[in-house]
Amino acid sequence: MPSHETPSPTPLVLPPALARAMPPFPPGAVWLVGAGPGDPGLVTLQAAHALAQADAIYFDALVNEEVLRLARGDCERVFVGKRAGCPSPKQSEITALLVTAARAGKRVVRLKGGDPYVFGRGAEEAQGLVASGTPFRVSPGVTAGIGGLAAAGIPVTHRDVNQSVTLLTAHDASGGLSQRLDWAALSAGSPVLVVYMGFRLMDVIADRLLDAGRPADEPVAVVANATTPRQQVVRTTLGRLAARLDVDNVAPPAIIVVGGVVALAPVLGLAAAAAPEVVEA
Ligand SMILES: C[S@@+](CC[C@H](N)C(=O)[O-])C[C@H]1O[C@@H](n2cnc3c(N)ncnc32)[C@H](O)[C@@H]1O
Repeated sequence: MPSHETPSPTPLVLPPALARAMPPFPPGAVWLVGAGPGDPGLVTLQAAHALAQADAIYFDALVNEEVLRLARGDCERVFVGKRAGCPSPKQSEITALLVTAARAGKRVVRLKGGDPYVFGRGAEEAQGLVASGTPFRVSPGVTAGIGGLAAAGIPVTHRDVNQSVTLLTAHDASGGLSQRLDWAALSAGSPVLVVYMGFRLMDVIADRLLDAGRPADEPVAVVANATTPRQQVVRTTLGRLAARLDVDNVAPPAIIVVGGVVALAPVLGLAAAAAPEVVEA
């Protein structure tokens, strides 16, 4: 696991009243920190406060490394994610690294994409920290399936469209389509579905929803690399998604959103700062 050096960190100076409102970050503690979906502007003040104090940062592949500039120059930066062909370290190995660093008296930041507790194994890491008696705090982040969609002009709720929204992941721990998802219940009860980690299986997901009764002309969007300069927004329909049409030029990570809120994208997407590409199906 290579260490990463980022030159010239910029110290973040908070106004005194805000600085006093920040929780203490004692040596020997681990903070699980959400880095948001990609745009460094979506990092919270609490995350910036933690990064500025950290002695060691363990970060994932979906973290925008620009954010590491908030750390001190002498802070250790360790990549623990998955990259091209290389397997990521096991969860137990990452937890062991965090515990060892904390026991060495470091302030440790575990920096994860989006929100640490949304389909990011943050809760598993927190359980490991609790089991080892390591003091920890979670610092929530903007999750891709809500903030990332907003940046693409898709609100996850609108009073005239949906009174509920369901976040789901297509994967279970085996890496395949989760057998625990009840597609009939999702189809009948969830007007808006937000699917994480569904890129590879998008046709299968669409098929399951069609089989469960969702209409083929229901609007769908695939939002890739949300909030980054590489953001892509493809609007299509469930029927076309089942045939994997319209998504040839899209690269993950991506969120798939199914439901009436997608129809708002042409209007609200115009106002979104980071919405460079919308492909109409
Ligand atoms: C392991 S999950 C982590 C989710 C993260 N904890 C969060 O709250 O956003 C990774 C999945 O999140 C989604 N994702 C994360 N960042 C994204 C982005 N910038 N644009 C689109 N999807 C993203 C994709 O579905 C990706 O496969």
